[in-house]
Amino acid sequence: MKYEMLLTTPDDVEYMSEKLDAFYDSIVPPSERPSTEGYVLKVSDENGNIIGGCIAYVNSWDILRIDTLWVDEHHRKCGLGSKLLEKIEYVGREKGCYLSTLGTGDFQARGFYEKNGYQVCGTVENSPQGHVSYSMAKRLDCPILGTVSNHDDGKLHTITFGTEEDGDFIDDKLDEYNCSHATLPNRYERFGKKFVDEQGNLVAGIFIRADIYRTANGTDVWGAANVSVLWVEERYRNERFGSKLLLDIERTAKENSGDFILLDVLDCQSTFFLKHGYRIVGEIQNCPRGHRWYTMKKLLE
Ligand SMILES: CC(C)(COP(=O)(O)OP(=O)(O)OC[C@H]1O[C@@H](n2cnc3c(N)ncnc32)[C@H](O)[C@@H]1OP(=O)(O)O)[C@@H](O)C(=O)NCCC(=O)NCCS
Repeated sequence: MKYEMLLTTPDDVEYMSEKLDAFYDSIVPPSERPSTEGYVLKVSDENGNIIGGCIAYVNSWDILRIDTLWVDEHHRKCGLGSKLLEKIEYVGREKGCYLSTLGTGDFQARGFYEKNGYQVCGTVENSPQGHVSYSMAKRLDCPILGTVSNHDDGKLHTITFGTEEDGDFIDDKLDEYNCSHATLPNRYERFGKKFVDEQGNLVAGIFIRADIYRTANGTDVWGAANVSVLWVEERYRNERFGSKLLLDIERTAKENSGDFILLDVLDCQSTFFLKHGYRIVGEIQNCPRGHRWYTMKKLLE
């Protein structure tokens, strides 16, 4: 049988993502929750303007993931961030979550989260270029020690649930903050490769998102390339399809001056990547329950 390597289509990526989700579910059965549930929390001033907010979701493994937390610069260090965090953790606990996870950068809020009980579980240097990113986690099934912030601006701020539009506003505000405190990628490039058999059936595929930076002389170079899906149909495993796809992506990244490849995997998947020269740079224990969640990285030399 002959196999051909082609670029993936959006349908291929959706198909592989579903397969990967089903694979994860077969290892760690999901909770009763039908699917991922998202939440937007907001704090408004007396004129109804949003002055702080948080966006998070609860996944089917009972893990709260905090995607966005932002407080308007005129209202920082008054305890609002801590109150938003406390409230979203309360929502998570109500939904049965035992763990809360998030990512933050050296130009953002590591110290703030540490004061609120989070621990650094992983460190990725040069992500974005010139900065360090941290993965952080906090158990939610331990006794609550109370809020850390003694600061109070004397005003009564009520935290309420916001709409999707409020969420977009909060996201935009965090983006504004990030852009003014770090050099972020100019754009992202998403693409993938697949192997198909003689009938055109997908046998295996990989999909990545690369950070693209524009250099001073106007050329685009890759920073980190994040592998979001690598999937080989069950009956084609151990035939080197996965290795070939991974090597192909690494070669493409190198050709584009890429710095490194990054990926997140469940503990049981890590051996394959260790064999290919990846090393563990982050480890969240008991995530999902009974497992470890690894962040793995390979420098491209
Ligand atoms: C991070 C942020 C949400 C914190 O909100 P806040 O209302 O200012 O925080 P609090 O007043 O509740 O702070 C509680 C404690 O954390 C400290 N803290 C606040 N922001 C901090 C930061 N960025 N880094 C380190 N420590 C911080 C405070 O000094 C305070 O400590 P103290 O009690 O010992 O004095 C807010 O500063 C912000 O929006 N920053 C810009 C966007 C950002 O970085 N968001 C996080 C993305 S991952």
